[in-house]
Order: sequence, then C-alpha cells, then structure tokens
Amino acid sequence: MLELKNIRFDVQEGHQEIEIIRDVSMTIPDNKFVVITGPNGGGKSTLARLIAGIEKPTAGTILLDGEDITEKSITDRARMGISYAMQQPVRFKGIEVIDLLRLASGKKLSVGEACMYLSRVGLCAKDYINREVNASLSGGELKRIEIATVLARGTKLSVFDEPEAGIDLWSFQNLIQVFEQMRDSIKDSSILIISHQERILEIADEIIVVADGTIDRMGPRDEILPSLIGTTSAVGACVPMGGRPASVPPIPTDENGNPIPKSREKSGESVLPVSGSGEKGGQA
Ligand SMILES: Nc1ncnc2c1ncn2[C@@H]1O[C@H](COP(=O)(O)OP(=O)(O)O)[C@@H](O)[C@H]1O
Ligand SMILES: [Mg+2]
Repeated sequence: MLELKNIRFDVQEGHQEIEIIRDVSMTIPDNKFVVITGPNGGGKSTLARLIAGIEKPTAGTILLDGEDITEKSITDRARMGISYAMQQPVRFKGIEVIDLLRLASGKKLSVGEACMYLSRVGLCAKDYINREVNASLSGGELKRIEIATVLARGTKLSVFDEPEAGIDLWSFQNLIQVFEQMRDSIKDSSILIISHQERILEIADEIIVVADGTIDRMGPRDEILPSLIGTTSAVGACVPMGGRPASVPPIPTDENGNPIPKSREKSGESVLPVSGSGEKGGQA
C-alpha cells in the first residue's frame, strides 16, 4: 500500500515560488487498479515522479507499506518495489531490448520469456528482441518496450504515465487487454495508471481526478466515472450527423438512449480531456 500524506511540491522560477502540487493526500491500496485522470498541466506526471523518487516533495510524507520512503532514492524505491513507466520514455544507447528486459526482471530471462513480454505489448518479438534501444525506435515502440519492462519487473506498485500516448489504435486495443490481464492477476500489488482514456477508466477500481495541483475528487469508479463522462468540452462542441470524431468519447445516454443532460458538468471546465496527451513535445 502506498500512502501520500499532505504532499506539496513547489518550484522556484526566478524570484517566484510556483506551487505545482498543493497538499495531496491519497492511498493506493494493495490489489487495486487505480487511475489518475484530469486536465493537462494538473500535476499528474509530477505526482508520478514524486512517487518514483525522481522529484522530492517540498513537504509531506510518502509511505510504502507503512515505511517512510520520502527521502529514498529512485534506486531504493525501485528495489523496494516501485516501478515506473514514463510519459516520455528514455533511450539507452548500446543496450538491446532483451538486455533491458533482463535488467528489469532482475533475472536471466530466457529469449522465450522476453518475447512473451514483447508480444503482450503488441510488438513482434523477433523483430525487436535484439534491436538497440536508440533513436531508431519510434516513440510508440519505445513506450511499448518500456511497458514490457514494467511487466517483466512485476513489482508491488507499477506506475504508468499515459501508456496510451503515441500508440496507434490497434496496439491500444492490445494494451487495454494487457491492463485487463494485469488487473485480473493483481496479487499483493497495485497498479497506478495516469490516463485520459475512457476504456482505461472503465476498468479502474478507483479513480482520482487531479486538477490544478490538487485532488478534485476521488472514489470508486462507479461513483466518479459518471461525473467525468460528458464533461469534456469537446462533447458540447459540434457533433457531426450520423457520427462523431473518433477522438471524442461517446456521449453518455440513459437507459432509454437519451443524452444525459450536461447539468452534471462542473463549472463547464474540461475534466476529462480529449484522448491523446497533447502534452509538451506532443505525440512521440
Ligand atoms: N520542475 C518543474 N519546473 C517548473 N514547472 C513544472 C515542473 N514540473 C512540473 N511543472 C509544471 O507543473 C504543471 C503540472 O505538470 P504535470 O505534472 O506534467 O501535469 P500533467 O501531467 O497533469 O499534465 C505544469 O504546468 C508544468 O509545466
Ligand atoms: Mg503528464
């Protein structure tokens, strides 16, 4: 179980102190599949980096199974069972994909085992197993390789930051299956995914909405998801006759097929942004 207690994260910009995370407290219980969502720039990736130890909070405490890990390094946390797949994966010159998978798993994976992890993320294993993890791989390929390494690690807490970013639709279907399998086989561990994708939100046990550096709301999926669907600004925009743009989530309807009124919208702001990260650097 991971606990964040009154976490703050400020950065200094010139003479100004900017609050990026403002007093976030949350618990990621064991055996849960938790999804963090919310508008771009809300602080989701920063939270993931704070959990992984890439950034240290300005104030507050992070506990893993009751042990204070706030001051622990990335390596210590990785050893203690936190694994993290970044929004923008890194490249390692001179290392082959199979080496990366072996490093991640911490054991001498057979080629067959390594291939299995690659297949699970929709990569044809024989084409990739001996590829060098360098600039010749596309962002989407790197992202999948990174997800495969997290699968190979199989740790207590797996954190994925927008795993869908830069992945084509076909692979996305496979990815959903990978996450469904992970959720179904969760055992004494938990999964934390940052995502805007409705398909991923739909399989969450718990949903946490982070906006403006703080928790807007959180709770079981059935409680939170209905309040998110239909809040996208794009849903209120032009919907073409006989269809809708692929990137726009479906318009919620009641049991009679009538659209649910927008009255549930919270002050008209977009809480569930249109799919794709739209983040700095864009699609890889
Ligand atoms: N180290 C930093 N220095 C300055 N600004 C930062 C830093 N880290 C994050 N930010 C800013 O904090 C906000 C939240 O960023 P981020 O956590 O990436 O949001 P999200 O992942 O929800 O889109 C953004 O406005 C971002 O530019
Ligand atoms: Mg982000």
